[in-house]
Amino acid sequence: MRVVSLASEDDFTGWRDAARGLARAGVPASEILWQVGDAPTDLFADEAVLPPAAPRPLKVPRAFLDLAQSAILHRDPKRFALLYTLLAGDPHRVADQADPLVRRLEAMARQVRQDIHKMRAFVRFREVRDALPFPGTGEPNTRYVAWFEPEHHIVRANARFFVERFTSMRWSILTPELSLHWDTETLSEGPSTTKADAPGEDPVEDIWKTYYASIFNPARLKTGMMLKEMPRRYWKNMPETALVRELVATARQRETAMVATQPRPGGNIEGAWQALRDEAAHCTRCDLFRHATQIVFGEGPVDARMMIVGEQPGDQEDLAGRPFVGPAGEMFDRAMAQAGIDRDTVYVTNAVKHFKFERRGKRRIHSKPDAGEVQACRWWYEQERLLVKPEMTIALGATAARQLLGKAVTITATRGRAIELPEGGLGWVTIHPSFLLRMPDRSKAEDEFAAFVEDLKGAAKALS
Ligand code: URA
Repeated sequence: MRVVSLASEDDFTGWRDAARGLARAGVPASEILWQVGDAPTDLFADEAVLPPAAPRPLKVPRAFLDLAQSAILHRDPKRFALLYTLLAGDPHRVADQADPLVRRLEAMARQVRQDIHKMRAFVRFREVRDALPFPGTGEPNTRYVAWFEPEHHIVRANARFFVERFTSMRWSILTPELSLHWDTETLSEGPSTTKADAPGEDPVEDIWKTYYASIFNPARLKTGMMLKEMPRRYWKNMPETALVRELVATARQRETAMVATQPRPGGNIEGAWQALRDEAAHCTRCDLFRHATQIVFGEGPVDARMMIVGEQPGDQEDLAGRPFVGPAGEMFDRAMAQAGIDRDTVYVTNAVKHFKFERRGKRRIHSKPDAGEVQACRWWYEQERLLVKPEMTIALGATAARQLLGKAVTITATRGRAIELPEGGLGWVTIHPSFLLRMPDRSKAEDEFAAFVEDLKGAAKALS
């Protein structure tokens, strides 16, 4: 029996390095005991991985590594062995969706991704002020502290997200597994904590409660959906859930009052959306704001069931401040009309909200946003999604698909089918209309246009 000791529950690198060596040496899964830390074992273990006499070649597809990186964070102790079984057998089986082992690992990866998303959506910071002011500046010494109980080993994997989202705040996230601390420059880790270590009620909670009450739209109240999106396990840690019972109880009256007083259903969400758009107008999260005329935020009904995501505004959109109004927009409108989808019922936005271009003489030539720019703009895209909560999101082209799925994908591999999104709702990937504009061969362009229309129809059908 070989014993492999991993440094931590989420030690993907340690698992990968050991697994590669063992698989090359042809060691069967049944002969390996995976453990975390230096947990004592009373087996007569052969700790070292002996170099094989003639190592087997091992080619691992990218899809396997993607799967392993998520599944390794699952709380099931068998995850290391299951992944190894797939690796040492044939990692290309990962493409076989009917394979029971692949299905099991995919389900684990899905649960992990959901947990990652839940942490992002439900961590709530409470303000803590030290008695002494901040050294040097004399400013109040404020830190924001949150308590979160994840289901899987996802805390470290989520750290970068919180650093990017709350870069200028000093914060700590306390969990039963480890704690994360950010001082606006350095991220450090501390030991596990208990809920008693986290602060109780405080003024910041009032802000969350007010925000939540303002975006809580009784006309959309579906308790089942709410529970699905915010499992009870999380409720007890969220200040706004103190309001939920009351909000649910008074929802009927509020709905009647709202219908009577508001000409448009969802008026309170509209207010939150307008505040978001106004805030986005001053966005400096990446450098694109420097040369663009203005931000081009999403538009359309905030209670739309369908969201369409493009790449980034073009020259005309940048001047008009509205998405899809230039040549690609005309093509888009034509395809939507042929697919029988009324654009006025759809929320239309872009993965990146500032126009990126190169100047050639007087012309501004479109330039593709890079991964950093897409990531920086993810903040606005996620906020739009939290308000609109679309049941179906269509990504036009690879940049939009990257924003939708949180990773780089090819259109060919993902096109034309409903994809369940971890945050809820379905995603659908198709081509970008400007691809049709660039096609020199008219008859090919017509065929592609027809396929584009079919994709849009397919998404509309999956929604209905
Ligand atoms: N292309 C896009 O992706 N979005 C727009 O808004 C315009 C062109």
